[in-house]
Amino acid sequence: MSIPTPHINAKQGDFARTVLMPGDPLRSKFIAETFFEDPVLVNNVRGVQGYTGTYKGKKVSVMASGMGQPAIGIYSYELFKFYDVENIIRIGSCGSIVPELHVRDIIIAQGACTNGNFASQYKLPGTFCPIASFDLLEKAVAATRNAGVNFKVGNILSSDVFYDDAGSAMDWAKMGVLGVEMEAAALYCNAARLGKNGLCICTVSDSFLYPEENTTAEERQESFTKMMEIALEIA
Ligand code: HPA
Repeated sequence: MSIPTPHINAKQGDFARTVLMPGDPLRSKFIAETFFEDPVLVNNVRGVQGYTGTYKGKKVSVMASGMGQPAIGIYSYELFKFYDVENIIRIGSCGSIVPELHVRDIIIAQGACTNGNFASQYKLPGTFCPIASFDLLEKAVAATRNAGVNFKVGNILSSDVFYDDAGSAMDWAKMGVLGVEMEAAALYCNAARLGKNGLCICTVSDSFLYPEENTTAEERQESFTKMMEIALEIA
């Protein structure tokens, strides 16, 4: 396959080496318009907006992933494999399943467990452990320390279900897993398979333990902005 790909209508060189990847296409637009100098729209297939611009003089891109492992699996694969992207930093939201993490806190995902089947494609004789790029992880930890926010580094669950009717997400807390989102494991698998770097940073948008803390999207914007600044620093 070559470019353009089935899901990205951009030219070679349109993307920077590092791509920030929120789930929401409107957040991608917000990041480009708020933080980039001279943002250029480089993809809009299916409304999945991708922009490239500069931040503090460095070329950087942002493109949405959509929701779920199949979606981020497609976009991260095409960027890594066909657009020579080296680093993808997912900046998402997650639900906290531990008492130490409240709404607006940050989780840096060192590893991503999953109840999904993405890694079965590799036909490995065991269980693959999807982990973050250590280089990006180290930089993210340093930048987050400087940002003065409450954060933890550890395992998360990339779940294939948002509406967890059986309440099984909490079982993962017994293994020290900190929060639940829906994309990181597939990103980490693609990065591993293609020799690239993936990292997922999440703002806690809801808490399984403190549902009274859950706020509206607008109220959470400020903590999302902090996470975006952290990701831009390491880009
Ligand atoms: N579950 C799965 N994904 C999420 C959640 C959640 O509670 N919150 C934000 N993303």
